[in-house]
Amino acid sequence: MDTHRKPPRRILIIEGHPDPSPQRLCHGLAEAYREGAREAGHTLRTLILGDLDIPLLNSRAAWEGPAPQIVEACQQDLLWAQHVVVIYPLWLGDVPAVLKAFIEQVFRPGFAFDPKRKATGGQLKGRSARLVVTMGMPGWLYFSWFSAHSLRIFRRNVLQFVGIGPVRNTVFGMVEGASAEKRRVWLDEMTRLGRLGV
Ligand SMILES: Cc1cc2nc3c(=O)[nH]c(=O)nc-3n(C[C@H](O)[C@H](O)[C@H](O)COP(=O)(O)O)c2cc1C
Repeated sequence: MDTHRKPPRRILIIEGHPDPSPQRLCHGLAEAYREGAREAGHTLRTLILGDLDIPLLNSRAAWEGPAPQIVEACQQDLLWAQHVVVIYPLWLGDVPAVLKAFIEQVFRPGFAFDPKRKATGGQLKGRSARLVVTMGMPGWLYFSWFSAHSLRIFRRNVLQFVGIGPVRNTVFGMVEGASAEKRRVWLDEMTRLGRLGV
């Protein structure tokens, strides 16, 4: 029994995998989280970045100018959310390009932070986040040898910078060719987190 169940929350799930194929583990993890969250009465929205047409950000002028309509819609989802779950595969040590484009487009000055008070001007306070990363290497190697750098950059340079916290993380390593039993354990863990709304 979950003894730390929270009151229902508004949760935004961002699926950062560029490949919308349901075969991808990341989508399975997202669905497992949704199952648990729905069961516990949380309200959900999902952004599947592989299905959206987020343009690359090409200049400072574009960053400081009006956001494209699709980006504005994503910003509204962030404003709505009390908790944000981002799920992505580690690609060449980092987030896939589609997620990087999303981050650059959405976390704009004026919306996400006050450009005049950079260090203290985070405008998305009051929201928490969880980063869920899958990878080919063992999780322990990612933390010890690679210092979990994509997680740290995402947490410190983006989410904490704009006021989002606490930021927790879940890492699933050695996912390629994992047994059905192992995948079940990961899916169950996501359902548990979804139920808790964390
Ligand atoms: C383009 C690409 C780059 C990758 N880079 C890494 C990497 O740097 N480190 C790593 O451990 N795994 C890497 N992998 C393995 C993926 O992280 C792994 O296939 C993915 O997490 C599996 O989840 P999925 O089924 O949702 O795609 C890479 C895979 C691809 C396709």
